[in-house]
Amino acid sequence: MTSKPRIRVLTGITTTGTPHLGNYVGAIRPTVQASRDSQTDGFYFLADYHALIKCDEPARIQRSTLEIAASWIASGLDPEKVTFYRQSDIPEIPELTWFLTCVTGKGVLNRAHAYKAAVDKNNAAGHDPDSDVSAGLFMYPVLMGADILMFKAHKVPVGRDQIQHIEMARDMASSFNHLYGEHFVLPEAVVEESVALLPGLDGRKMSKSYDNTIPLFAPAAQMRKQIAGIVTDSKAPGEPKTTEGSALFQIYQAFANVEETAAMAQAYADGIAWGDAKQMLFERIDREIAPMREQYQALINNPAQMDKILLAGADKARQLATPFMREVRHAVGLRALSSGTATPAAKEAKIAGPSFKQYREKDGQFYFKLVDAQGLLILQSKGFASPKEAGQTIARLQTDGIASLSDLNKVLVSLTPDQILTLDRALEYLSNSTKNS
Ligand code: TRP
Repeated sequence: MTSKPRIRVLTGITTTGTPHLGNYVGAIRPTVQASRDSQTDGFYFLADYHALIKCDEPARIQRSTLEIAASWIASGLDPEKVTFYRQSDIPEIPELTWFLTCVTGKGVLNRAHAYKAAVDKNNAAGHDPDSDVSAGLFMYPVLMGADILMFKAHKVPVGRDQIQHIEMARDMASSFNHLYGEHFVLPEAVVEESVALLPGLDGRKMSKSYDNTIPLFAPAAQMRKQIAGIVTDSKAPGEPKTTEGSALFQIYQAFANVEETAAMAQAYADGIAWGDAKQMLFERIDREIAPMREQYQALINNPAQMDKILLAGADKARQLATPFMREVRHAVGLRALSSGTATPAAKEAKIAGPSFKQYREKDGQFYFKLVDAQGLLILQSKGFASPKEAGQTIARLQTDGIASLSDLNKVLVSLTPDQILTLDRALEYLSNSTKNS
């Protein structure tokens, strides 16, 4: 049997703002929780190259990096257990970005949501379509692809708006693998459906762009004051209140357990005064946040300590990135002139081991096959309606090995025991060549 490779989970946070309660409930808290799972290896980083796309204030980038890093550590992320680093401390990332740029269709990037939204806005205003659009915004998905593919992440927890970028990263990985052999793992987006979308002060989703946020680690007095500013209806004390559509109630629920939430619902029904409900909300949040606030302040007051933690993380990350880039450079032909042949070899010869191939047939369906180094067929899939489904099945095979076969029977052409053995060896080979990066 194939030994099960550990699952790598990776996500990045753009360093342009101050973390607020919405970030905490929607991203920081669940991610810190998930990072404690002993079956996974977590990679969490501060996406400061991405920050440059939308922010040209150096002091703000620096301050935000410190605040976000301190927030994650204070919220319980253990930098000993995970790899926690700053994107710009990894020079291999922009290097990989270029390799991926060269296998990404320009047309694909034309369709990226962030770029398209900017163009649509310009068109609507009667401006030149690319007016005020930097090439950085256009290239955003490629940089993000490099973040992900560099560390062979299997799972990438993101918000809905980012799913398209993960799909683009998959495409970059398949294109590169197709051209140069199996070097990249195809990542999968993970969208956590169950985490609360926190409303902000005005009842809309809490977001910096609506200017309705409550900073996560504001001093207690400031937090109390902001909570007092959450919009409510004008029902008087004693009048029963409805929990439905109440931002105050939803925020409370994101921090409280089931009993506390039921008690608050009862208090609403009994006509609690808004002022009292706000006091309860403040106390409940503060109970969770106050112990972390101290560590947060200590880190903010000692940025040198934060630098040290991040540089240690970058060191750990580069132990993977540096040799991997050596492999990738070699794969594309940027290598010592004395190494190997200088005459173009047949394409097959570039591929040292078995590899997956994805393709479309005349029937319009999407297929994949696994072939060995000589091009002999090891495994043939049945047809899939979309390339995504085919890709997900490949990902399953790569992470779970032949253990996934019982579920995959329906989508694979059935195998004899001999073929299963060959398949097992091929998957083992692929998982080893992935691991030794
Ligand atoms: N673009 C992401 C965001 O705005 C941040 C990010 C950068 C990211 N690189 C990443 C997220 C890699 C996941 C993986 O939310």
